[in-house]
Amino acid sequence: MTTEATSETALHFPTGFLWGTATASHQIEGGNTNNDWWAFEHAPGTPVAEPSGDACDSWNRWEEDLDLVSAMGLNAYRFSLEWSRIEPEPGEFSTAALDHYKAICAGARDRGILPVVTFHHFTSPRWVAAEGAFEWAETPARFADYVARAADHLGDEIGMACTINEPNVVTMMGYVLGAFPPGVASDFGRFAAANETMVAAHRGAVEALRAAPGDYPVGLTLSMAELIAEEGGEAARDEFQASMEDVFLDATGGDDFIGVQCYSNFRFGPKGIVAPPAGARTTPMGYEYWPQCVGATVRRAAAVTGLPVVVTENGISAADDAERIEYVRSALISLHEVMAEGVDVRGYVLWSLLDNFEWTLGYSQQFGLVEVDRRTFARTPKPSSSFYADVVANGRVLR
Ligand code: GCO
Repeated sequence: MTTEATSETALHFPTGFLWGTATASHQIEGGNTNNDWWAFEHAPGTPVAEPSGDACDSWNRWEEDLDLVSAMGLNAYRFSLEWSRIEPEPGEFSTAALDHYKAICAGARDRGILPVVTFHHFTSPRWVAAEGAFEWAETPARFADYVARAADHLGDEIGMACTINEPNVVTMMGYVLGAFPPGVASDFGRFAAANETMVAAHRGAVEALRAAPGDYPVGLTLSMAELIAEEGGEAARDEFQASMEDVFLDATGGDDFIGVQCYSNFRFGPKGIVAPPAGARTTPMGYEYWPQCVGATVRRAAAVTGLPVVVTENGISAADDAERIEYVRSALISLHEVMAEGVDVRGYVLWSLLDNFEWTLGYSQQFGLVEVDRRTFARTPKPSSSFYADVVANGRVLR
């Protein structure tokens, strides 16, 4: 019997549900000078607000980061391996870098936390970028080599593997919006071709992971949004859905799960994406405040792929932390709804543990459960981390 002292309803999540939080190497480690993003941040004329620099100094402070995850009582931590540190030059692997990531996995396990390891989170080594990154025909094979090498070193320490983070964002931002390396705008041909290479890289990585020692679920993480067709916007919506989502959802056959990452919606008119309606509530990212995107995207990902779903990212950029609490609570309510419909959802991973480097936008956004002092790197948990800890401790969200 529940004894909640209010009239709120407790919506329970299953035992064994994964409750996590996520980060990515380039956004928190600092000093990743050998990848394409560092080069992009320092190249003249790119739209990046500021360089990543020391980021959150997590390369040195990872134990403190794990302690923060542990203090919230979470049972999963999603982080990424930095390919440019592990394979700084073609075929030259760093044992020290691999040991570093192995220690993070082991440190997580010591704290009862499942290490959810992402092998590519937006950044590629400079030598890969010099050949054209995901336009280079050899990239899938090179990526598979690196994945095999890393998986061999980490072995059973890996708890769950995500091959590529949001391949659709890398290609859309890189070849259509010009906001990520290589900074090309409006080239839909190169966008489509890079998507195909991404798919090949994913498939090769799955194979490499399956052949490696250790036994853990393997999947892709995809950026999704609730896609809303307004009057006459159906064709534009369908076109977007096909090139941004379905090309990847359709490439997950045989995977163990699909990782859904969602933050908001996109609305479509006859000519494509349209702005949120006048007066709509928006976030500092410019997104419409839309926590219910979680239920909508999870439902669609499960229907298209037939795979179990893990929400590998969801969260909000919010200067006012109370907004984060409100958003996450609503997001979890929508997730619970879709689970009540029978959709197989294995976990929820909140982006992000720390306020960190938000790519083109630099350090202007606050996605973290924990604030990071930009000068001292001191970490201070926000009220949302207590809220999240309470949800996790009780395995429920209150509606
Ligand atoms: C992504 C990435 C993260 C972002 C986060 C907030 O989804 O774009 O995985 O690196 O920081 O999504 O925008």
